[in-house]
Amino acid sequence: MSKNFMQLSIEGLSKDFDTPHGKVLALDNISIQINSGEFVCFVGPSGCGKTTLLNMIAGLERPTRGQIKKNGVPVTTPGIDRVVIFQESALFPWLNVIQNVEFGLVGRLEARKRKEIARALLHLVHLGRFEKAYVHQLSGGMKSRVAIARALALNPSVLLMDEPFAALDAQTRDLLHEEIQEIWAKSNQTVIFITHNVREAVRLGSRVFVFTARPGQIKKEFQIDLPRPRDINSQEVVVYAQQIQQELKEEIEKFLKEEVDREWTLKKADFLRPAGVDLGSGI
Ligand SMILES: Nc1ncnc2c1ncn2[C@@H]1O[C@H](COP(=O)(O)OP(=O)(O)OP(=O)(O)O)[C@@H](O)[C@H]1O
Ligand SMILES: [Mg+2]
Repeated sequence: MSKNFMQLSIEGLSKDFDTPHGKVLALDNISIQINSGEFVCFVGPSGCGKTTLLNMIAGLERPTRGQIKKNGVPVTTPGIDRVVIFQESALFPWLNVIQNVEFGLVGRLEARKRKEIARALLHLVHLGRFEKAYVHQLSGGMKSRVAIARALALNPSVLLMDEPFAALDAQTRDLLHEEIQEIWAKSNQTVIFITHNVREAVRLGSRVFVFTARPGQIKKEFQIDLPRPRDINSQEVVVYAQQIQQELKEEIEKFLKEEVDREWTLKKADFLRPAGVDLGSGI
């Protein structure tokens, strides 16, 4: 299949959640076309709907309006062609490293073949020597590598990563950036990567989408035309990151203002309610 074949089509997507305080519009009319083999990053203020969008692409949530199509077919259920790696991707503590990696292949492939694939992937993420180790014996970076290897074992055509490196120190993150880029360059996998770290987005992404504060809409799209591998501290990366940060700043300020206003309203409610003051609905 050619590298630039259009694979994911997100069309007029919106998502409402019903909450005890009424409907929350999380995402509003998102349309994005993603080609096969692209590395796309999403950045946006907290609560703007990034995880919700990823969950809908994974088929774990259903859109309220609009649709997602993969290779022209609407996405309605989860599938092993679209695998999610979460920030704290839980590994199974009762299994060792290689058993964690081959877990998704049990029942699909015979034991020898499973081990062969898992071993090759552990080698790819530089954990070849740790296949017998248990999760509690691993560092945070090593756990992230196992989670990546476990996801890759399913050979998904779309890899969905939700802040996978957020809890790691800068050096470990830097190493994992190199590894994930290497893996991505060798495969024809499409990666969708959520991060709050703008430089990380520029280092990794072929395109970076900036979301508005909730309800999340696409505010701006940046095409990152820089050769790879990229150095996170290079002037070119910093220049792109500054432009993206500028777009993001306004939205984060909106989000913070809304939070402060909401807290203030809640505090006011606590203060005035005993005095019998009606503050109206929505609190
Ligand atoms: N299951 C749910 N029920 C009700 N509201 C939800 C649910 N899931 C998400 N939301 C709301 O939808 C909005 C978007 O949430 P989401 O987790 O997608 O944001 P996000 O952009 O991933 O934020 P963060 O950067 O903090 O991870 C938030 O206001 C959240 O409270
Ligand atoms: Mg999130």
